[in-house]
Amino acid sequence: MTSPRTLRLGIIGAGGIAATQMRTLASRKDVAVVALADISPAALKARGETFGIEARYTDFRQMLRQEKLDAVSICTPNTTHAETAMTALKAGLDVLCEKPMAHTAAAARRMVETAHKTGRKLVIGFQYRFNPRTQFLRRAVDNQELGRIRFGRVQALRRRGIPNWGVFGQKELQGGGPLIDIGVHVLEMTHYTMGSPKPVSASADLFTYLGNKPSNQTESVWKGWDWKTYTVEDLAVGRIRFEDGAVLHIESSFAAHVEKDTFNFQLLGESGGCVWDPAQIFRDEGGYMVDKVPGWLNPKQGWQDMFDAKMHAFVDHVLHGKPTIAPAEDGLAVQQMLDSLYRSAAKAGKEVAIR
Ligand SMILES: NC(=O)c1ccc[n+]([C@@H]2O[C@H](COP(=O)([O-])OP(=O)(O)OC[C@H]3O[C@@H](n4cnc5c(N)ncnc54)[C@H](O)[C@@H]3O)[C@@H](O)[C@H]2O)c1
Repeated sequence: MTSPRTLRLGIIGAGGIAATQMRTLASRKDVAVVALADISPAALKARGETFGIEARYTDFRQMLRQEKLDAVSICTPNTTHAETAMTALKAGLDVLCEKPMAHTAAAARRMVETAHKTGRKLVIGFQYRFNPRTQFLRRAVDNQELGRIRFGRVQALRRRGIPNWGVFGQKELQGGGPLIDIGVHVLEMTHYTMGSPKPVSASADLFTYLGNKPSNQTESVWKGWDWKTYTVEDLAVGRIRFEDGAVLHIESSFAAHVEKDTFNFQLLGESGGCVWDPAQIFRDEGGYMVDKVPGWLNPKQGWQDMFDAKMHAFVDHVLHGKPTIAPAEDGLAVQQMLDSLYRSAAKAGKEVAIR
């Protein structure tokens, strides 16, 4: 009797999100996290001991050479995603790359090209599209319930949530601040819900007013962020135009003076509109204005649940050939939007083309 195949996975970057991934994967009998790579011996020791992983490498390339892996998951800072992913793809491995896909659109494009050339699978860690609310609205869009979508509003606003771990305030390592770190989540699910239209131009402005000041001067969810190395925006506001004429506005912040944190989007179409949280559709039906709410949504709709769903979907894609809903091509489109918003901001908000 042949034993069922087990996916031999290596994780590159043994920090916070790697631990979240490993907790989910521990529930699967068909996955074995067999090795970890991290430039920090302390991170390797901490995660290795917690999850009982003996094979630990300070050089991920050595891990790829020595371990007989099927796939890797990339959980390192953003600017290392592209190089790491391309090295793993060229080594013949399938890759899950945490969001954002890369730090620039050019890097994301090279990743897509490498995946195509090598014939390996490249999936982006976009969990929000696995949320049942997103699926409910995407199906409504597919069924033409909104008609032609003309406008959308994307909001990823934390009242006071500048990360006090990692390198999230360092532009040269992350590629940007809240826009690329949390704006990416709401942008990717909005774009997915819209049916992934082609972005053609963008404009944006960035503002920094709090993250670069001593962090003990204000209350925060996460105290003690590294204000001395803080080189990213606190607030980004932008506008993206699509080939079909639709326009999105995006607002993203680590520190916005708002009543409460907001992770949400809204779409306005010619025959209907929708909002993500709480999931609702607004239409004219039978001559009346009708608000539609799902009578029941899978209760598995918390953050951890959609994160779990994305991890299971990656394994099912790689091991069992199930189609992915988070392909690298979607990652590239999202990266093009982020990249153009940052490019526009560097040109004092001038609209820039997305090629
Ligand atoms: N999907 C999500 O909701 C989600 C949530 C948090 C973070 N992330 C993403 O995961 C990535 C990591 O975030 P985190 O919160 O785990 O950060 P973290 O700082 O906790 O962990 C990153 C780890 O990568 C290691 N590292 C840095 N450069 C490396 C290199 N060249 N090779 C190997 N290891 C290296 C660091 O030593 C650190 O241990 C980021 O891209 C982030 O955007 C995704």
